[in-house]
Amino acid sequence: MASNLVSVIGGRPAEGAPVGLVSSPNPSRLADVVAEVALADAATFAAACAAAKRAQPSWADVPAPVRGRAAGAIGRIVEANKESLARLVTRELGKPYPEALGEVQEIIDTCDFFLGEGRRLYGQTVPSEMPDKQLFTFRVPVGAVAVLTAGNFPVAVPSWYLIPALVAGNTVVWKPAEYAAASAMALFELIQAAGLPDGVLNIVFAEGEEAFGGLELGLQAGTIDKIGFTGSTTVGARIGELAGRHLQSPCLELGGKNPMVVTPSADIELAVQGALFSGFGTAGQRCTSLGTLIVHESVHDEFLARLTAAVSSAAIGDPAQDVLYGPMLAQKFADRFEEYLGWIQPHHKVLGSSGTGKISGASPRAGFVGNPEEGIFYHPTIVDGVRPGDALFREETFGPLVGVTTYASIDDAIELANAPGYGLSSCIYTNDPREVFRFRRGISAGMVSVNNSTSGAEAHLPFGGNGKSGNGSRQSGVWVLDQFTRWQAMNWDYSGHLQKAQMDVAELAADLDFRLGT
Ligand code: UN1
Repeated sequence: MASNLVSVIGGRPAEGAPVGLVSSPNPSRLADVVAEVALADAATFAAACAAAKRAQPSWADVPAPVRGRAAGAIGRIVEANKESLARLVTRELGKPYPEALGEVQEIIDTCDFFLGEGRRLYGQTVPSEMPDKQLFTFRVPVGAVAVLTAGNFPVAVPSWYLIPALVAGNTVVWKPAEYAAASAMALFELIQAAGLPDGVLNIVFAEGEEAFGGLELGLQAGTIDKIGFTGSTTVGARIGELAGRHLQSPCLELGGKNPMVVTPSADIELAVQGALFSGFGTAGQRCTSLGTLIVHESVHDEFLARLTAAVSSAAIGDPAQDVLYGPMLAQKFADRFEEYLGWIQPHHKVLGSSGTGKISGASPRAGFVGNPEEGIFYHPTIVDGVRPGDALFREETFGPLVGVTTYASIDDAIELANAPGYGLSSCIYTNDPREVFRFRRGISAGMVSVNNSTSGAEAHLPFGGNGKSGNGSRQSGVWVLDQFTRWQAMNWDYSGHLQKAQMDVAELAADLDFRLGT
């Protein structure tokens, strides 16, 4: 049964649907409509920002350890609802159930981390240049935060913004992806159950352009102090430009063209398993999904033969069953994926399945689990022979497609890995420590795995990218606190007279000409 969802602002459901209704269907069974969603307009988005701004000072007055305990309570409430939330994620986004459970676990891990952070929002006491004067630093909340998230991680990635933002004393307007609305509403309800006051967390369902208009209105009105955005590089650049005009630096988590380097000393089977999981798990729809395999020419043929065998025999289909991957997240991702398939050229060799494009009665896939005609399922595609001039090499191809190229020296491999200009995740399979550290130093990515795939970041390390993958902002762990707090410096002079910095400072008489006698 479909649920009817509306935005919630200041604790109250927003009336009406100024931009109409949209449905969020189950992508593995399109006839199953998960939710009917009332879409808000830019003005409604801006009203939510105003509500968040109003609620912020009193939320910041709640002691940080108490806000931390709210994160702890959210973690326990999510844990108690782990299976039902994961089932909903599987139903609405087509993520295989074990992965959906992992996604929910990532929320719990985030809450566990920030429970303690509420007691650890440390500032420093710092010595002054002068006597009877003390210096201090304090972390202060940024204010009201607008968070716009994608639906490939419909609940985990949002929690990376929401939980630390709230613990740090900010209030939030969250705009989830409309095709992930039911999962988002479930997380919203679970968070609300921890007892947050009205207006501290608001949820707005809106399409991209209306939300963008709402950001403009909120920035103009001074009711948005920070934007967090996970999504495409193109939209991220627009948001960065808009925020920059208001002298803000957003937290941007954008696309990736994540490379995997397979060296001659690699454990080939391990590398094949890594490529299978990160290239085709989640139907290649993670920001951290593998983009291009950069394989040493001496192991290319063996590696490719084994990968092709693994991909060709992988189970695809109903995400509630035991499959490597399920459907595309929503029709718009399938449409875009069709465009990427159009980039395949005559010099490429296509491997990995009995066809390319949509899996159907006319283009079947051996061993498909379930009925492909009911949903939006795509063949896995390995494209061997991609070159730096190819669109397939340069651009992110969100979906089950992996390019393969070869290299001769480790420096070539690094150059190829950096060439597309993204910089989110990367990995190298090698048993040579010199290659490990050469790669780590040379790679432009924010994240580097060694003998592990490009996916699978843990919730307490910095997550984020460089270049086309982001503006250097980092989520997760203590590092995200620099997104949601600002440093305030305080000095307190208790000498009773004016002491001028840099001027009234004692100096010891040093003999800088002193040399050791020989
Ligand atoms: C994303 O794709 O936006 O490292 C997040 C991973 C997951 C998170 C991915 N833990 O693949």
